[in-house]
Amino acid sequence: MKYSSGFKIWHWLNAIIILGLLGTVFLRKTFLSYRENAEILLQKLAEIGVTVTLEQAKVLAKAIREPMWEWHIYLGYALAFLVIYRIVLYFQGAAKKEKFATLSLHKKGVESLYYILYASLFFMSITGLVMEFHELLGISKELSHDIKELHELVFNVILVFVPLHIAGVIIAENREDKGIISELLHCEKKE
Ligand code: HEM
Ligand code: HEM
Repeated sequence: MKYSSGFKIWHWLNAIIILGLLGTVFLRKTFLSYRENAEILLQKLAEIGVTVTLEQAKVLAKAIREPMWEWHIYLGYALAFLVIYRIVLYFQGAAKKEKFATLSLHKKGVESLYYILYASLFFMSITGLVMEFHELLGISKELSHDIKELHELVFNVILVFVPLHIAGVIIAENREDKGIISELLHCEKKE
C-alpha cells in the first residue's frame, strides 16, 4: 500500500485535529463542566459573602467554558475542510490499495473500520455545521438539539476508533506489517 504526500499530510493533520476535538469534549465534560463549576462558584462566592442563585452560577460557569469551546468550532471547520480534501484525494487515487475482495479477513475488518470512520467524520461535519449555523438555516432550537443528540451519539464511534486504531497500527508494526507507521511518516525524495 503506497500513499501520496498529500495523503500523508492529510492523515497527520486529521489525527491532530481529531485528537484536539476529543480534547475539547474531554474538557467540557470534566474540568470545565458547567454543572460542577456552578456548584464550586456558588460555594466559593457564599464564603466571601456573595449569594447567587444556581441559575446565575451556571451562567458564570458557561461563560468560563466559552473560550475553550470556541476551539471545538475552529477545529470543527478544519475537520470539515479535511473531509472535503479526503474526497479530492480519493479521486486522485492518493492511497493505492489492494482490491477489497482479495484482502484477508483481518484486513477486510480493518478497511471496514476505516469506512465506518469516514462515514462518521462526514456525519460529524454535517451535523456540527448545521448546529453552528442553525439560525441562518432557519432550523429551530428544538431540531438543533435533536441533531446534537445524534452528533453526541456518533462521537462514541470516534472515541472507540482512535485507541483501537493506534493500538492496532502499533501491534501491526511489531508483527506482520513492519514499517507501516514510518511509511506514513516519510516524505518521498525527488530523484
Ligand atoms: C497518533 C497515532 C497514529 C498513528 C501512529 C497512525 C498510523 C496509521 C497508519 C500506519 C495507517 C495505515 C494503516 C493501514 O495501512 O491500514 C493509518 C491509517 C489511517 N489513520 Fe491513522 N494513525 C494515528 C492516528 C490517527 C487518528 C487520531 C485518526 C483519526 C481518527 C487516524 C485516521 C486514520 C485513517 C482514516 C486511516 C486510513 C486511511 C485509508 O487507508 O484510507 N489515525 N494510520
Ligand atoms: C470528530 C469530530 C467531532 C467530535 C468527536 C465532536 C464531539 C462533540 C460532542 C461530544 C458534543 C456534545 C458536547 C456536550 O454537550 O457535552 C459536540 C457538540 C457540538 N459540536 Fe462537535 N464534534 C465533532 C465535530 C464537530 C464539527 C465538525 C463541528 C462543526 C463546526 C462541531 C460543532 C459542534 C457544536 C456546534 C456542538 C453543540 C455545542 C453546544 O450545544 O453548545 N463538532 N461535539
